[in-house]
Amino acid sequence: MQHSPTSKTRIIIQTNPKTLPYGEIVDIFYAAPAARESPAPVTPVAPAQPSQTFLQAVETRRSHYSITNTSPVPDGRIVQVIQHAITHVPSSWNSQSSRALVLFADEHEWVWDTVVNALKAITSGSKFDAAAGKVNASMRAGHGTVLFFEDDDVVKGLQSSFPTYKDDFTAWSEQTSGMAQFITWVALEEEGLGANLQHYNKLIEAEVKTHFNVPSSWRLVAQMPFGEPTAEPGEKTFQSIEPRVKVYGL
Ligand SMILES: Cc1cc2nc3c(=O)[nH]c(=O)nc-3n(C[C@H](O)[C@H](O)[C@H](O)COP(=O)(O)O)c2cc1C
Repeated sequence: MQHSPTSKTRIIIQTNPKTLPYGEIVDIFYAAPAARESPAPVTPVAPAQPSQTFLQAVETRRSHYSITNTSPVPDGRIVQVIQHAITHVPSSWNSQSSRALVLFADEHEWVWDTVVNALKAITSGSKFDAAAGKVNASMRAGHGTVLFFEDDDVVKGLQSSFPTYKDDFTAWSEQTSGMAQFITWVALEEEGLGANLQHYNKLIEAEVKTHFNVPSSWRLVAQMPFGEPTAEPGEKTFQSIEPRVKVYGL
């Protein structure tokens, strides 16, 4: 195939989608640029160095609902991982609004006993049994829990400093928390742990704040129990990428 140096559209051919979910480049050649109305039919490229290790870690992270109270790494390493995530997560205006509690042993179990007690107040019979059974098997059974918070005092400070974006800061705070959760989740998986993500926020926030003497401005966003995984995560299906990612001008 003659490569034309003047045209702009790169065509990437997908091969072996079983082993390479996003395809690989087997040839790159150039064709006439596509009209802007119809985006280029590009299949995302298989990750290449230097991002391959990171992208593989992103792909490997899963929700683990079968975890034990053991850990393949020392607790100090787990704390380091979470400190790193909270330190380096990006935040709007570098506001650093994310907070976390890292809980082990009795303190970890206390959180999930509190969830079960709260569930008891709002469910009964087989519904309670199912909900409590899930909490005990997939959360309390773990080795520890990370509680993610956002500091609303920081959000309020941003809203008063930058009134133009007043209505955006709460969403951006949630977004930075999501990124912190994701960094933590990926890193824990890389350390040989399995984690899942829970949102019993409203059920337990008041009790958590009292128990751990958390500042009143901290808003509970998510709970991430973790432990040594004892089973492979469930099968996961993926939608076709083409309608989800559009590429123009390539
Ligand atoms: C923003 C967000 C909220 C989620 N909330 C819950 C939740 O409350 N309980 C739960 O069991 N899983 C929750 N999950 C996990 C998703 O169900 C899970 O990530 C998804 O099914 C894909 O599976 P995977 O994590 O194994 O890739 C949440 C995930 C995200 C990103």
